Amino acid sequence: MNSEIRKVGILTGGGDCPGINAVIRAVVRRARLDSVAVMGVKNGWQGLIKNNLELLTRQTVSGILPRGGTIIGTSRIDPLSSPEELQKIRETWEQHRLNALIVVGGEGTMSAAKRMSAEEGYPVVGVPKTIDNDLCGTDYTVGMDSAVSIVVDAIDRLHSTAESHHRVMVVEVMGRHSGWIATCGAIAGGGDVVLVPEVPFRLSEVCEVMRQRQASGRLFSIVIVSEDARPHPDEDFLKPEQREAIYHHERLGGIGPILAERIQSVTGIDARATVLGYMQRGGSPTAFDRILATRLGIKAFEMVLAGEFGRMAAITGSQMTSVTLAEAVAGIKQVDPDLYRIAEVFAG
Ligand code: F6P
Repeated sequence: MNSEIRKVGILTGGGDCPGINAVIRAVVRRARLDSVAVMGVKNGWQGLIKNNLELLTRQTVSGILPRGGTIIGTSRIDPLSSPEELQKIRETWEQHRLNALIVVGGEGTMSAAKRMSAEEGYPVVGVPKTIDNDLCGTDYTVGMDSAVSIVVDAIDRLHSTAESHHRVMVVEVMGRHSGWIATCGAIAGGGDVVLVPEVPFRLSEVCEVMRQRQASGRLFSIVIVSEDARPHPDEDFLKPEQREAIYHHERLGGIGPILAERIQSVTGIDARATVLGYMQRGGSPTAFDRILATRLGIKAFEMVLAGEFGRMAAITGSQMTSVTLAEAVAGIKQVDPDLYRIAEVFAG
């Protein structure tokens, strides 16, 4: 044990997701064993800039394991945006005598954590959480399993209307530039077509699947489309203004309804779209995410005790591991091609 560590901050940044509170709970409960105080930094990096921190006790974290969202709030603030803000962070850090910071976040938050560690010298440990599962160096991020289970529930429900009305149901899912949610959702929910950012799609091929299904007596179809799935340049059916509106890095979304309209007009089959949106980030975490979040929270705290800074706790296979923050954000972890191939087996 590192007796230098007396007080640790924890912040949650980026989009919320189920399982974050389980991480916070695990850190606080594990820290108690070494009599280390945990300060919750409110609303992401903003809490350090605005000196908005609260002591997290056993009571504070009691009952939060099943709760969605994050009890300490989140934001998408960049801590390195100005020297003035960096100075405020320094003052907050010194005033509270923090010895380390656990940063729970996705790609944007982990990039900031990497810079705060490498450029500003803060002792930082990361915990991967994002429904997108797009951080490198870890097999899973907290929140992805819960988001997929919400997608699967939605697909199960949408099957009713698809079958009863003999319709094509297009389901648009989140995931930013990776197709993990779409692919896992399609495999577990029984999607007939899955379109991901990693593989540009041809409308003609999608429509052919719909036609073949109809011809063989399957009068409905479920199409899962990632928010960043794009038509192949050979068959780009989007108007420039539609393209601009859909593929905004800050806020992706809108391909689903346009795709449904195109499928209907090409095939003549009734088609409807459902955009699942923020439903995928809400509610209670799955058991898998609760266990993953708990393990990662404890691992992160133990990394702090061991002085393993500038790294992110991770899971490889069934083992807790860690990678440098630089490795975690070296790129965007694309969907496993093997997994996508499995989803494709069920196309048609
Ligand atoms: O990164 C998680 C995520 O839900 C993405 O899947 C989505 O593209 C984005 O966040 C939405 O961000 P915001 O909450 O800022 O609208």
